[in-house]
Amino acid sequence: MTQTFNLPIRPRRLRANAAMRRMVRETHLSPADFIYPIFVRHGEGIRQPIPSMPGIAQLSVDEAVKEAGTARALGIPAVILFGIPAEKDPIGLENFAADGIVQQATHAIKKAHPDLLVVTDVCLCEYTDHGHCGIVHGTEISNDETLEVLQRVALSHARAGADIVAPSGMMDGMVGAIRAILDEYNFTGVSILSYAVKYASSYYGPFRDAADGAPKFGDRKTHQMDYGNAREARREVELDLAEGADMIMVKPALAYLDIIRQTADHCPVPVAAYNVSGEYAMVKAAAEKGWLDEKKVVLETLTAIKRAGADIILTYHALDAARWLDSFNE
Ligand code: PBG
Ligand code: ZN
Repeated sequence: MTQTFNLPIRPRRLRANAAMRRMVRETHLSPADFIYPIFVRHGEGIRQPIPSMPGIAQLSVDEAVKEAGTARALGIPAVILFGIPAEKDPIGLENFAADGIVQQATHAIKKAHPDLLVVTDVCLCEYTDHGHCGIVHGTEISNDETLEVLQRVALSHARAGADIVAPSGMMDGMVGAIRAILDEYNFTGVSILSYAVKYASSYYGPFRDAADGAPKFGDRKTHQMDYGNAREARREVELDLAEGADMIMVKPALAYLDIIRQTADHCPVPVAAYNVSGEYAMVKAAAEKGWLDEKKVVLETLTAIKRAGADIILTYHALDAARWLDSFNE
């Protein structure tokens, strides 16, 4: 006979079986939490795989429309578009061209799927020949000259039908400048999802292959945040809220769960977290080697990002995760 100890509290009671665990789970992931990133390029019928991001490809507009339809059918409310232009130059002219690649894709996706939200990334780095997020003089990025370009880009995205613009360049005043131009041209209904807290991170590596947007010299440390800093994130959030940001993003996600938590605790607007390319690549690489169970790791990771306080998760896993969630019952 084993002895029964007098333990008034036995936490294991609530973990005894799947139904009990499901009932007491605090954080539930849903396809409604996701924004799915899509890389758009010129051409037709093109799905150009990105080697460092297995399962993700640069898509021509027709293929992007199909991909967006898949996301929508899975219950994902939004896609975010990144453009690969035909040509690059010091300013990035295609970035604000009415027939630029993102403008074309936005228009086509909204036409085919009016109730799917289209978010556009607003930055210069994919369009400039030097690969920087702003107008460059010598080795300096000119903040205020860049704001003028960002205004043009955001306005052209709004004209193409974007529901949400997402400035990602960490320029001072970018949210206020974009809100002002959108309102001036009567796009008062277009929301701003600010990449308010974006760290200078090596986890963006695969994305820079995907979007061909690596800086040709130097780095992004004069605008993106130092990964040693947490209090500074509060200041960035406060500023962007004061400038009119409707939603705030923290990026990357996994090495910054503390920053997501901190932001969610004091931020009155929805908080998004970007599960970035390097985080995706690590999981895919380990899964390909058979070292991790991809499905389980992805669902655990995305749940952790939500548990940390993210209301919205931008993730390359979105389509897979939405499919897996149907049968998610551990
Ligand atoms: C461009 C931009 C980047 C990412 C999103 N927008 C790259 C960068 O800042 O260098 C990274 C996304 C990812 O790694 O998945 N401003
Ligand atoms: Zn950029």
